[in-house]
Amino acid sequence: MKIAISGKGGSGKSTVTVLLARALSGMGFEVTVFDADESNMGLARMLGVSDPETVMDLYGGKQGFKRVLNAGEPINPDVSLVESKAEGIRFVRVGKIERGGEGCACLMGILAKEVLSKLKTGDREVVLVDTEAGIEHLGRGVDQSVDAILFVVDPTFDSLMLVEKAKRMALDLGVSRFMAILNKVDEQLTPLLHEKLEGMGVKVLGSIRRDDKVFMSSLKGDKLEAGVAMEDAVKIAKALVEGW
Ligand SMILES: Nc1ncnc2c1ncn2[C@@H]1O[C@H](COP(=O)(O)OP(=O)(O)OP(=O)(O)O)[C@@H](O)[C@H]1O
Ligand SMILES: [Mg+2]
Repeated sequence: MKIAISGKGGSGKSTVTVLLARALSGMGFEVTVFDADESNMGLARMLGVSDPETVMDLYGGKQGFKRVLNAGEPINPDVSLVESKAEGIRFVRVGKIERGGEGCACLMGILAKEVLSKLKTGDREVVLVDTEAGIEHLGRGVDQSVDAILFVVDPTFDSLMLVEKAKRMALDLGVSRFMAILNKVDEQLTPLLHEKLEGMGVKVLGSIRRDDKVFMSSLKGDKLEAGVAMEDAVKIAKALVEGW
């Protein structure tokens, strides 16, 4: 399974990625967390990985990668050279924007797309791709080779607006397994959002409650800690595997 986690900025993509990674790893899957967000740094920290090398580093940075692209050389880097491991979960970071004025993140998108398309996963393997905020990665086709897109919906109007568009864009890419995960919700909000999403023809895989442990560990910059959110993620992971 190769699964992209998508959603609007701050909806909880990175948090949900780590929670699902832990849940699936606990179910005996070999899990790789693939950090395709070229801006935010938080994902590695949530997993307890510090200062990981990037796939882009294998090319000596963006300029080196650009030369390889321009020369028409095949893009098939050995990501095992830059992978980290934490909690039994593999972690691979594509690359980050580092300097002011260094240019757009398109090269990161190209690299992420190439690497993802070549990653092979066995029966008991899962790759979870944390994407950057919004839908640009869908526009760039980074997710073209994934088997499913899980769209994190927090209780905001913007999320509800974006999910419909994202579903259409996923279909454009040929990814038909598109499901929403509600995040930061409570018992009152869940049925309301369910109804809205079902009305848009978006299947809801499950919901994750607002969890103070998650919030506080994130505020302190610690490894991700979770209480009820982890319980909910375990249910979602089971639903994902059962419905596969
Ligand atoms: N279930 C939850 N309960 C409480 N807080 C949450 C929950 N999920 C996420 N958060 C908080 O919401 C904020 C954003 O979470 P996160 O960084 O995972 O979002 P993101 O979608 O990856 O953001 P970005 O678009 O910046 O990459 C963080 O402060 C995080 O702790
Ligand atoms: Mg994030």
